[in-house]
Amino acid sequence: MTPTRTHGTGGTETLAGAFAAHFGHAPDGLWQAPGRVNLIGEHTDYNEGLVLPFAIDRTTTVAVAARSDRRMLLTSTFTGAAPVEFDLDTLDPDAFDPGPAGAWSAYPAGVAWELGRAGVSVPGFELLVSSDVPVGAGLSSSAALECAVASALAELAGAELNATELADLGRRAENNVVGAPTGIMDQYASMLGAEDCAVYLDCRDGSFRRVPLGLDESGLVCLVIDTKVAHAHAHGGYAARRASCARGAELMGVNALRDLDTNDLARAEHILDGETFRRVRHIVHENDRVARTVDMLESRGAAAIGALLDASHRSMRDDFEISCAELDLAVHTARASGAIGARMTGGGFGGSAIALVPEADTGRVEDAVWRAFSDRGLRTPDTFAVRPAAGAHRL
Ligand code: GLA
Repeated sequence: MTPTRTHGTGGTETLAGAFAAHFGHAPDGLWQAPGRVNLIGEHTDYNEGLVLPFAIDRTTTVAVAARSDRRMLLTSTFTGAAPVEFDLDTLDPDAFDPGPAGAWSAYPAGVAWELGRAGVSVPGFELLVSSDVPVGAGLSSSAALECAVASALAELAGAELNATELADLGRRAENNVVGAPTGIMDQYASMLGAEDCAVYLDCRDGSFRRVPLGLDESGLVCLVIDTKVAHAHAHGGYAARRASCARGAELMGVNALRDLDTNDLARAEHILDGETFRRVRHIVHENDRVARTVDMLESRGAAAIGALLDASHRSMRDDFEISCAELDLAVHTARASGAIGARMTGGGFGGSAIALVPEADTGRVEDAVWRAFSDRGLRTPDTFAVRPAAGAHRL
């Protein structure tokens, strides 16, 4: 069986050439931002907790040229259609409807709109997007697009915004224009990633530090298993989990679930209904697991974190209930065939799992996963290795 890996779309010259073919002149520049996997710390970001994602070597690149008027012309190598067009002066995020073919254009348009709201005088612009971050796989293709566009437009507008300000701007575009009530993790990972490092982020105060992963030294590969089960965070389960967490915090008399620790769980079980209690228990334990993962990485290296990844997956499956049969199968099969730890990654309800696998065993794990899916009549998952890579930058 062959993997159905999504391949990249060529180098910078190709994209600049495609831009020129579309718009009749060269772009002002090319900016690139990565997708991410989250090593551990799921749904903790909007609870003001701890996360440990890393930027991956799958990226979104935008070729952009400023215009002298206020029009935005947006196109991509994956749609191949005529550009979607908006006017910066009349763009109304509440009535924004680019239609299904242009749904992706809400991200760049949203970033431009949020920049304007932040007082930056954004020029009109032409934009061509290319990406090898798979869409809908839980690898933050949306944050990659937001961060690439935010970096490009801030520079073209001459605005002095640092990486965390650009990350915040991307999140606001996603929340306010796209309408997905997500937290801050994905954009921080995409802006702040560094080679061979995870980003240890405290979502309460935005402080972060980069933690070396040392996967090569440990002889480990981070394998992504994209189940191809679609997820969308603009509606449904993600928002419901956020609401449960908010209710749990309110009933427990704290500002955010971050304020609770394992000593509060007995009281929480008394006060909360069973479902809310399980949601709260996941967040409390998950914050603790993130801190322990960082300790473990720094004291004993990546080979020692497998059990924490496994525990995180069980907690998402049983307490937070955001896994699905395909993610559980991917995790179970990866573990049974050689991975030292595995968990679903991202918002859940579909998307991808990650598995830490000794390098020599990756082929065996991939085979086992494909076979398990095929035996159950499920769609063949996409499996590929990712490496911790640099955050957003100009090419
Ligand atoms: C999505 C959101 C993030 C985060 C994760 C779950 O990726 O965009 O903000 O909440 O889900 O950890």
